[in-house]
Amino acid sequence: MSFSNHRIIANCSLCDGTLRFDESHKNKVYCSRCKTGYDFKGDYLNMLSPHIRNEICTKGMLARKIQQSLHLGRLSKNDHDLIKGIVASKNMARQYFKNVVHPTEAAWSARSYERFEEIFIINHLDSILKTKKITFVDVGSGPGRYLILLGSKISQNSCKDFKKNPETAKLYGYDKTYENKLSSVIGIDYSEEMVSYSARLLKKYGLGKLLNTRIFPVNGIAQNFHLNDKLFSGTHKVIVCTFQTLGNQENTELQIQMLKSMKKLASPSGTIIVSVFNKKLFRDFGLKKFYGREVKRTVGEIVTSKQDVQNAILRTSKGVYSKWFSKEDLEDLFSGAKISRYTIMDSKSLEPISGYEQYLKSEEQRKDVFPRAIVGVAKI
Ligand SMILES: C[S@@+](CC[C@H](N)C(=O)[O-])C[C@H]1O[C@@H](n2cnc3c(N)ncnc32)[C@H](O)[C@@H]1O
Repeated sequence: MSFSNHRIIANCSLCDGTLRFDESHKNKVYCSRCKTGYDFKGDYLNMLSPHIRNEICTKGMLARKIQQSLHLGRLSKNDHDLIKGIVASKNMARQYFKNVVHPTEAAWSARSYERFEEIFIINHLDSILKTKKITFVDVGSGPGRYLILLGSKISQNSCKDFKKNPETAKLYGYDKTYENKLSSVIGIDYSEEMVSYSARLLKKYGLGKLLNTRIFPVNGIAQNFHLNDKLFSGTHKVIVCTFQTLGNQENTELQIQMLKSMKKLASPSGTIIVSVFNKKLFRDFGLKKFYGREVKRTVGEIVTSKQDVQNAILRTSKGVYSKWFSKEDLEDLFSGAKISRYTIMDSKSLEPISGYEQYLKSEEQRKDVFPRAIVGVAKI
């Protein structure tokens, strides 16, 4: 495969400089400013910066270092925390798709919430697409739920199973407006296993021909991911961060940095959509029902000694960190990121979303789904 036909959609993770193909190694790109090199690996661009890549490559040693809480040399506290997240995510990739985000087979407790998020986001896209072209970026894209969903909408002959299944047929249906006006769909994930698995899934569902021409899985860290803006000028950017990914950031500074990065990605004109779990439900729903058998099989058991009920934080045996938020918590994070034009919605304001019931088994979940979510939408 010739990688030099691919568009380089990102700028350097370290300095935001323009990337160019290396003349002598066609699957490598380098920064024209600081000379850092990155690889096209398989079907995706690996934008992890070299010092993070080195630590991930020595994962056995790293796991020991983390376990023993030894000093991690050149790494800052935030790098250290990001690596904890990468290590936790890497072993979940395959199972995560099957048990948590598979459009029809995932555990019900996860699937119903995701269906709600998908409808919320598709409603937004439908209305923006009436007047504008869109570049879509999913921050923390996992095994590519949105890459597959939007791929299905832009490509008539893809995702046949989902187009046939009554539960997903409408949502995953081909839509000419999406084909014409959704220019690019980008998914960034810091776990290489998630990204390579999402590329494999895109091929499996008949979207291989759009890989790196229109659908771009990228291995990178959301907090320091920069778009090659020239390629996307004139489009409205929709930047989403779904299914509690913001709450997986291990400290407040990383959460604010994630929102700041989303704001930069959305500039000069875009929309940010963030969906996280509602703190109110942490004790009675989160700790009891949500982490049911299938979800536990994927993310591990909740470690009781590490859970902090008052602040709605838990950690699982596979190292997954999850902080659930109140409306005020999310407002503080948006303010911290200097995002001013935002609306935060919780159970009451999310309740009027319609078109949702048809995707749910009648006896299930509606009463649980809305209170579970806190959604922030900002205009940039
Ligand atoms: C809870 S999953 C959500 C996946 C996807 N957004 C969805 O809704 O199906 C979180 C994903 O975000 C990734 N992630 C978490 N923090 C990240 C960060 N700072 N930068 C890039 N990816 C991140 C994890 O590797 C994981 O795949």
